[in-house]
Amino acid sequence: MAPVIVPTTPFNDQKPGTSGLRKKVTVYSQPHYVANFIQSIFDVMSGSGDDGIQGQTVVVGGDGRFYNPEAIQIIVRMAAANGIRRLLIGRGGILSTPAASHVIRKYKAFGGIILSASHNQGGPDGDFGIKYNTGNGGPAPEKITDAIFKRTGEITEYRTVETPDIDLDRLGTSQLEGMTVEIIDPVADYAELMESLFDFDQIRSLFRGGSQGGTQGGKFRMVFDALSAVTGPYATEILEKRLGAPAGTVLNGTPLPDFGGHHPDPNPVHAHDLVAAMTGPNPPDFGAASDGDGDRNMIMGPSLFITPSDSLALLAANAHLAPGYAGGLRGIARSMPTSRAADRVAAKLGIPGFETPTGWKFFGNLLDAGQATLCGEESAGTGSDHVREKDGLWAVLLWLNILAARNQPIGEIVRQHWRELGRDYYTRHDYEDIDNATADAMMADLRASLPTLPGTRIGDAEVKTADDFEYRDPIDGSISKRQGIRISFADGSRVVYRLSGTGTGGATLRVYMERYEPDPAKQELDSQEALAGLIATADAVAGISKRTGRDKPSVIT
Ligand code: G6P
Ligand code: ZN
Repeated sequence: MAPVIVPTTPFNDQKPGTSGLRKKVTVYSQPHYVANFIQSIFDVMSGSGDDGIQGQTVVVGGDGRFYNPEAIQIIVRMAAANGIRRLLIGRGGILSTPAASHVIRKYKAFGGIILSASHNQGGPDGDFGIKYNTGNGGPAPEKITDAIFKRTGEITEYRTVETPDIDLDRLGTSQLEGMTVEIIDPVADYAELMESLFDFDQIRSLFRGGSQGGTQGGKFRMVFDALSAVTGPYATEILEKRLGAPAGTVLNGTPLPDFGGHHPDPNPVHAHDLVAAMTGPNPPDFGAASDGDGDRNMIMGPSLFITPSDSLALLAANAHLAPGYAGGLRGIARSMPTSRAADRVAAKLGIPGFETPTGWKFFGNLLDAGQATLCGEESAGTGSDHVREKDGLWAVLLWLNILAARNQPIGEIVRQHWRELGRDYYTRHDYEDIDNATADAMMADLRASLPTLPGTRIGDAEVKTADDFEYRDPIDGSISKRQGIRISFADGSRVVYRLSGTGTGGATLRVYMERYEPDPAKQELDSQEALAGLIATADAVAGISKRTGRDKPSVIT
């Protein structure tokens, strides 16, 4: 059957953000909306001879959110019509983002299409998203996403075939119009990769009580909150089946199309079951959560929230305890708004520390070039060179491996780290859904004030430097401008302002604040308390409350 050419007209809003094209389901379900975007991806990735997507393997999978199956059926038909040779699809249309990255790499696929809006709410009124990853397993770099956006503005037709829906639930291979479709187990390859990196025997013995890592009489207990999102099946297989954690260790382990009506975002506000378990009576020794598509993580000890910035630093300092990193790290990379705790570890280890713009894609070149082994972001992302996405369960397993190897409660490990290298008190204040004009004006005025800020005093604080972060990629020399406003003060503390690139309605202002505390006697404060002065200064510098009329942030992490 010949492909059908469907005439279409461009949508003017298909510009990928920090992590793919995220829109409301109501936007995505308009006729031709998915098809236009997918055809634009195929058009940009097509080439002559061997260098295009035609004749190649492509991976497809998503986080199982509402509209996932419908979008996959559209993609399957279009892939066949666009000359893709082989399509690998996670069973049920499911692949966590890190698992998709691994599958792309393992099967040497040309690229992958990941269907997810990460931690954004799902359901018919929630969000949906499509992201293209290249053959290295990582998110497409800006030059590709820009080209895709350009193509969405020019598109006049797309190609599809008129075939019935395929069965996404049955493992195995079938043919569709000359294309091989393989439905693969979404968990198996990923679990095998994790076994190759971590000492599963040692972790098993931790759960059996053979180690003293537990604070409850030697029997180690943990909870993992999958937030009714994609990591449920992965965590159940790995933690409960392969590592022998008791049944019930995984909370909210069944993926739901609307995530049970919750935000699948692992932070102290949205991961309430985890927080309740870890702060209630007789808390487990270790708690963790992941997000909608499985790339983020949140780590807790008993009554202790470990910031993503601290988690990155601690993982880097201890990674050598896991077999996959026993040879040491080549370098550590963090996004600019992430605290500088990781830099202190890099300095101690005598390896390079990199500072990149927000967005996992900026780590890709450093990982591919072997310059960085571990990467992390304040936005609850941590990962390594094992895949080209951040990886929620990977971070949990590395923590478990470290706890098993060190045989010490997590709180003690964290405090010992602070005592040795100092504590970087850290908080992020988000102002969600402020109107775009107000947000843009605030950022423009801040930008305009940068040249005159150094040397001025705001209350007790003296501004030392002020700039708009610009990144020059050390590998390919590409320049990314306007990546966030950084203001540092004479006492070493720092405020960063940026607008979120992942929201779907209004603007979200993020204000990141940190202060270094080397004195062990002063490392036990609540971070909001420890940063109160800086929080007030940050408000005064940007005029946040005055301009937005908000007297407090919507979310504090
Ligand atoms: C996604 C990206 C991350 C990024 C985060 C924050 O999760 O994968 O790399 O750090 O969004 O984005 P935002 O622009 O909302 O602060
Ligand atoms: Zn995510």
